[in-house]
Amino acid sequence: MKKEVTKAIFPVAGLGTRFLPATKSIPKEIMTLVDRPLVQYAIDEARSAGIKEFIFVTSRGKGALEDYFDHAHQLEYELRKKDMNDQLAILQSTNMESGAIAYVRQHKALGLGHAVWCARRLIANEPFAVILPDDVIAAEKPCLQQMIEIYASVGGNVIATMEVPHNKTASYGILEGFDYSSPVFEVKSMIEKPQSAQAISNYAIIGRYILQPKILENLDRMKTGANNEIQLTDAISEEIGHDKSGVYGFQFEGKSFDCGSKIGFLKATVAFGLSHNELRDSLLSYLCDVVGASK
Ligand code: UTP
Repeated sequence: MKKEVTKAIFPVAGLGTRFLPATKSIPKEIMTLVDRPLVQYAIDEARSAGIKEFIFVTSRGKGALEDYFDHAHQLEYELRKKDMNDQLAILQSTNMESGAIAYVRQHKALGLGHAVWCARRLIANEPFAVILPDDVIAAEKPCLQQMIEIYASVGGNVIATMEVPHNKTASYGILEGFDYSSPVFEVKSMIEKPQSAQAISNYAIIGRYILQPKILENLDRMKTGANNEIQLTDAISEEIGHDKSGVYGFQFEGKSFDCGSKIGFLKATVAFGLSHNELRDSLLSYLCDVVGASK
């Protein structure tokens, strides 16, 4: 019987250099996509997948992110007084149960693997999810929920993946599968940020994982990899081929946006704006005007 996945790690301790100067004073996870911060999308996805414990790996300067999860009692009171019930419902939908969120500190940005390792004591001996809030995924069924369903049948370590252009592999962790014909495939090898000439495939790792606690033991050894950082990809890669703890790539249904990059954030803004009931028509007409004027 597989243990249920009820804990998720949200590593948010990166430097966010691609978004300077914005990230000089605000964490990128607090930046707003249409009407809510990136971190709210991540939390909503995790909640819909049955996650009960939310572990944030933070760093210096991420105070706004912690504050975001405080209940806004005064604002709720004002909205109630003014009968602004729709707004009150939106606000209250972001309230988290007391004690559901934990914060651990990563004192130095030593890499994603190191950030995940920082949460080891809160994970103990259970399978866990990892969500990178700057990878926002638009999907009818939330990506992590799709992954939990797959995990229930294959177990092991499940990694979200999608194909990327061959000349973009250096921006991603890359997976090689034995056979890509089904949405879930066994992984043969993994490599972090290869130049396209060295890339084993064009299947990129997207920021959603379901992992076994063994990965945390592998991270104990603190091996540095690409960019001189402790890489999660390397720790997972050590599990490839083990009988009881396989590694699977999962081609999820949906579209991923790299909101850690400016162009990714802009594309996500357009995509989420166009799927927003109140905004669709006016945004579309504005975009048509802009495109028409640029011809
Ligand atoms: P990124 O590769 O996007 O790095 O990290 P970054 O520092 O956030 O942003 P840039 O590249 O400088 O613009 C992927 C995820 O891993 C987390 C980040 O917060 C992000 O969610 N991370 C990365 C950590 O928590 N700690 C680290 O040491 C590195």
